[in-house]
Amino acid sequence: MRRVNYILILSLLSIPAFGQENNVISTSGNYYMDVLIGVFIAAAVLLLAFAFVLLNTFKALAKELRNPSPLPLSEVVERLEYEDWKARQSKKPGIFSKILGLKPLEEEKDLLIEHEFDGIKELDNPVPGWFNLLFYGSIAVGFLYFITYHGTGWGQSQEQEYVSEMKLAEREKAAYLASSADKIDESNVKVSSEAGTLDAGKALFSTNCVACHGDKGQGSVGPNLTDEYWLHGGKIGSVFKTIKYGVPDKGMISWEKTLSPKQISEVSNYILSLKGTKPANPKAPQGDKEG
Ligand code: HEC
Repeated sequence: MRRVNYILILSLLSIPAFGQENNVISTSGNYYMDVLIGVFIAAAVLLLAFAFVLLNTFKALAKELRNPSPLPLSEVVERLEYEDWKARQSKKPGIFSKILGLKPLEEEKDLLIEHEFDGIKELDNPVPGWFNLLFYGSIAVGFLYFITYHGTGWGQSQEQEYVSEMKLAEREKAAYLASSADKIDESNVKVSSEAGTLDAGKALFSTNCVACHGDKGQGSVGPNLTDEYWLHGGKIGSVFKTIKYGVPDKGMISWEKTLSPKQISEVSNYILSLKGTKPANPKAPQGDKEG
């Protein structure tokens, strides 16, 4: 048999040499044809190798069938142990019985309690594991709850929670008001007589406006702001608009770039609060009587 193998291999190896002589394997001039032939040869070699492996396998098989070699002892023991393990495994209670803490049916007679009613008997089954888990679990949760909310200051009580939430809301409200202050314009500015607003307006007036409107608003370069006569309207929206955009042709500057919308509303309200204050040396009224 072995000899046959060698002859086969040898003949395979000799193919190229043999081919060269007889011009069997040579370039055909067509590249794809060459590749195809190459692939065929490779497949043939592979097939041959496979055939060798198969042949050897059959030989080994035939030998084993004719006179089988005995099973080693260790393997016998292993097999017996496996059978044993499997038998024990099948007797083990299932996962369900485990969770419910149930005993197998054969053991029920040991669990019977010595009393019955109309043929109804009771089993002394153990407390199931899931129930114990729940029971001890709630004790643990209760304990943790107690130390969190009552023993230590870790958790907030309802009242503390309320207070901190109100504080947060207060902060959010302040932030909202601050941001909405920038959204004031001539269409939504409101009349206000709040002391804070008027004080802020007065301060702004003193720094920015007195040069032209007088320290009491009595007027100098600019018109009297304490009378009932207005060149550009005496309503809060009109006053706001005059200050915001100014009247550049007439010497009243636009304050849009210098003052924030909130500040313009403050100084507008301050000006409206001056109405009827009758300061000394008032400038003669200009414009139309209003309000
Ligand atoms: C450089 C001088 C000058 C300054 C500073 C000035 N104004 Fe005037 N303001 C004027 C003049 C001039 C007019 C009149 C415009 C016109 O004739 O139309 C006027 C008009 C006004 C009017 C309109 C009055 C009306 O009758 O309708 C208001 C309101 C006003 N100023 C507010 C302010 C405020 C508030 C400031 C400060 C932030 C200020 N002004 C700063 C010169 C000034």
